[in-house]
Amino acid sequence: MNDLILRSIRGEKIERFPVWLMRQAGRYMPQYRELREKERDFVSFYKNVDLSVKASLLPLELLEVDALIIFSDILVPLEPMGVEVRFEEGEGPKLYWDGNFKSLKRISYEDTSFVLEIIRGVKASQSEVPVIGFCGGPFTLLSYMLDGSPHKGLRNTKLCLWSGECKQALGLLVENLVEYVKGQILAGVDLIQVFDSWVLHLSYEDFEDYANVYLKDFIKSIKEFNVPVIYFFRGSGSFLKALKDLPADCISVDWTVDIVESMKVYSHAFQGNLDPYVLYADLETIRRKTLDLLRCIPRKTRYVFNLGHGLMPDMELEKVKYLVQVVKSYRIA
Ligand code: CP3
Repeated sequence: MNDLILRSIRGEKIERFPVWLMRQAGRYMPQYRELREKERDFVSFYKNVDLSVKASLLPLELLEVDALIIFSDILVPLEPMGVEVRFEEGEGPKLYWDGNFKSLKRISYEDTSFVLEIIRGVKASQSEVPVIGFCGGPFTLLSYMLDGSPHKGLRNTKLCLWSGECKQALGLLVENLVEYVKGQILAGVDLIQVFDSWVLHLSYEDFEDYANVYLKDFIKSIKEFNVPVIYFFRGSGSFLKALKDLPADCISVDWTVDIVESMKVYSHAFQGNLDPYVLYADLETIRRKTLDLLRCIPRKTRYVFNLGHGLMPDMELEKVKYLVQVVKSYRIA
């Protein structure tokens, strides 16, 4: 197996930096869109084991990345808790529940057995590269539950946090996510990535009090399963300094961070940092911006190439392929 990503996160000697991309299996790929047409809505698609295995494998075949991420969604574990998830075409997720924290349920990883089957399917179909399992951060999932689409802001979430009423719900989310991740690890994933996409709306103090406290607890618990953990968050420029003692192995940052200085002070491995909009530029700019980043990485290991956030549906497959090849051709001196 090509275990470059695992070796780089551990800090072993590597000949080039590993590469995979957030949302690497998605709508920018004609091959994904073709598979996606076989199911009416996105929830039916991610519950279809055969199609989700095929979608997970596309980036290996088309991009030749160094790791695969399971095709699924961060909202999946909310359903057995009692929160219905629907995706309306072009509108993003919509969540339906009675708003009463007391009615939320403890889950077992068997409640989402299709995720375990997808993992087993991806592991059985290829042994070339490691497989990444994932979940949302406790805070990000809470913000979906209370504000639906957090891109409109986090009004309900903030009022609930400040009232003190969210503590139990965050505690339950931590417990449920530990169970959910445990199932993925038992099914065979080689790494875990936690996506905290919506912390960027918080003040520094609120990030510490309401996101970081639960996050540390959560990551400490999943580290006991002995699999490397990557923490991705947006708002990296503001909150990185709060994560110095985060028990994760690798911190995945957006493009607002001075990665050179950060790597000098942190013992963690780092991932990401390239502004995804670089992929809207011409090939020469893609090459220059990517090599500029790779050349300034102050370590010869403990870095995983990725974007600062996911690929967008209107990006071009050919440019994404080119980006991966640029990273793979860069040799560490
Ligand atoms: O390739 C991969 O990265 C693996 C699959 C993956 C998806 N979502 C597939 C998906 C992963 C890791 C996610 C995580 C996810 N889901 C996040 C965290 C990452 C981030 O982007 O910040 C978040 C916030 C979600 C919630 C979610 N799911 C949103 C906001 C959307 C977009 C809605 C839209 O229509 O634009 C989704 C849907 C979704 N998840 C799609 C895919 C490929 C598109 C739906 C489709 O194909 O019909």
